[in-house]
Amino acid sequence: MSRDLIIIANWKMYKTAREATDFIEHLAPKIEGCKSKVFIAVPFTTIASAAACAKHVGVAIGAQNMNDAREGAFTGEIAALMLKEAGASFVILGHPERRQIFGETDELIHRKLLRAIQDDLQPILCVGETLVEREEGKIHEVLKKQIVSALADVPEKDIDKLIIAYEPIWAVSARQTASFKHVQDAHSFCRKCVEELFGKRKANRVPIIYGGSVNANNVKELVSQKDVDGVLVGGASLDPDTLSTIVQNCEGIR
Ligand code: PGA
Repeated sequence: MSRDLIIIANWKMYKTAREATDFIEHLAPKIEGCKSKVFIAVPFTTIASAAACAKHVGVAIGAQNMNDAREGAFTGEIAALMLKEAGASFVILGHPERRQIFGETDELIHRKLLRAIQDDLQPILCVGETLVEREEGKIHEVLKKQIVSALADVPEKDIDKLIIAYEPIWAVSARQTASFKHVQDAHSFCRKCVEELFGKRKANRVPIIYGGSVNANNVKELVSQKDVDGVLVGGASLDPDTLSTIVQNCEGIR
């Protein structure tokens, strides 16, 4: 089954609204005609202007986090409906930095995922093990737990909206990528977990992308792996020339 390649830029806490529109205008002609789907996860205050600017160039704009409640007295938080109205079409959930720095649990990520689906934002679910878990040989155990708990109670019809991002925590912002074999093995295992929950046909359609020190040099080999359907790029996505090279390097692979 052939799945499209997806390239998601995660800008983290970088770029103002003005910088974002300059970036998108610079990027657009360089990726024109490329077959991969390009998404950019921007800071909240940047969503509206980035979405207006990206509308005509086929780039999806989304958020990097959201609250699990529909609305409420949660000072400083943001709801899916607000993101949607501002122009976001997707949201990253359970990014390693959210899990590690902000203490997000599998349970909270599960609630956020259900809310995103309910309020019509495409969820990008991040999963991945820490270095210690890897050294203790617990990769499969961790991935299974994260996937099963995040996807519990998700209606079967909504699984088609899901993207899973495998992000081994030790490889994020680390200048060391996981080996291509490690990535393929983990992706194939993630697909197996989805299959156990929703069956083979559904599992074969879920895009599973890789994140963790992706750059213009390693992207081609990464997306050449059978179960790697794209990449989630942090640091290397902050420069439009580097991001466009990453997109161009994926051409012709699928
Ligand atoms: P990185 O970040 O590419 O800088 O390692 C990846 C991510 O944000 O998930």
